[in-house]
Amino acid sequence: MSQTYKNMVQKKHILHSGIFNQTLRDWQSLKSEITPRNLMYPVFIIEQDHEVQEIASMTGIARYGLYKLRQHLMPLVKQGLTSILVFGVIETLAKDDNATNADSPNNPVIRALPYLREWFPELVIACDVCLCPYSSHGHCGILTDKGLDNAESIKRIAEIALAYAKVGAHIVAPSDMMDGRIGAIKRLLNEHDLRNTVSVLSYTCKFASNFYGPFRDAAKSKPSFGDRKCYQLPPGSQGIALRAAQRDVEEGADFLMVKPIMAYIDILKQVKDKYPEYPMFVYQVSGEYSMIFNAAQSGIFNLKDGLMEILGSYRRAGADVIITYYTPLILDWIRLKHKL
Ligand code: PBG
Repeated sequence: MSQTYKNMVQKKHILHSGIFNQTLRDWQSLKSEITPRNLMYPVFIIEQDHEVQEIASMTGIARYGLYKLRQHLMPLVKQGLTSILVFGVIETLAKDDNATNADSPNNPVIRALPYLREWFPELVIACDVCLCPYSSHGHCGILTDKGLDNAESIKRIAEIALAYAKVGAHIVAPSDMMDGRIGAIKRLLNEHDLRNTVSVLSYTCKFASNFYGPFRDAAKSKPSFGDRKCYQLPPGSQGIALRAAQRDVEEGADFLMVKPIMAYIDILKQVKDKYPEYPMFVYQVSGEYSMIFNAAQSGIFNLKDGLMEILGSYRRAGADVIITYYTPLILDWIRLKHKL
């Protein structure tokens, strides 16, 4: 054994001798691997069953009418898509103070769910629960002269969650951020004997972020005045995020989420370390989608390589499921990689 080699061994400096081919490299990276089970695909459903509406601020993403959504999802399910997160978007239905059309029989989500369940029996369907796409003011709760009424808001949020659960949602996902909504939803599901068939995915650490812009355009849910800073978490905060996680766990959430993710990966790691027994979701939001897309478009990196590097870091930091608009592309890349 040469002297230099001996020194290397003794000093434990040999790192790359174990990574000389792709399989060996993969073994170093299993915790950041992405399989179809790690992905949840957000979709927007509109009232017009036969229409597709491209979303200008999110290239490649569209709002779908029921039958178009079926066509869109069919090949994805064949490629291994396991779950979707559904958002309703209304155009002709009225928006009012009580968000009446969030759970009226005409609501596109309420109408679509029984069909989606029948067409895609294996697909797990989560429904976003919020007032903002259906309220006249575009805020996430019930507004009074004095501001948001927390008690009224969570009562209404729970009613909407129950309505989605009754028509077939496997998961209800409240994104409003009002205090006590997880407990309120769990209690109501329990009263209706749905506790064992419907899970609650809490948007636990949802920050008042700069990265939601394109979504508000996509979901037509921009607040008509003010902002959401008093109910979404302050971007610089850490302690309140951990308290939010503790609160949701105590109220009975089944799954926790950090949203957005790119600027909050430390929060993900901390929440996962504190509650390792909970599957962690992260939401790569609309602004993150468009930012990465535009970076790749302008030649800063190759979309696939850059995106997979970023998503790998979320897995490494503790994400079990990544909610991403890139899901169809990723499924295709996985299929090609494994030559399926
Ligand atoms: C609504 C909601 C928002 C998102 C998911 N649910 C927007 C917001 O809080 O303003 C953002 C998703 C995205 O940007 O992709 N409560």
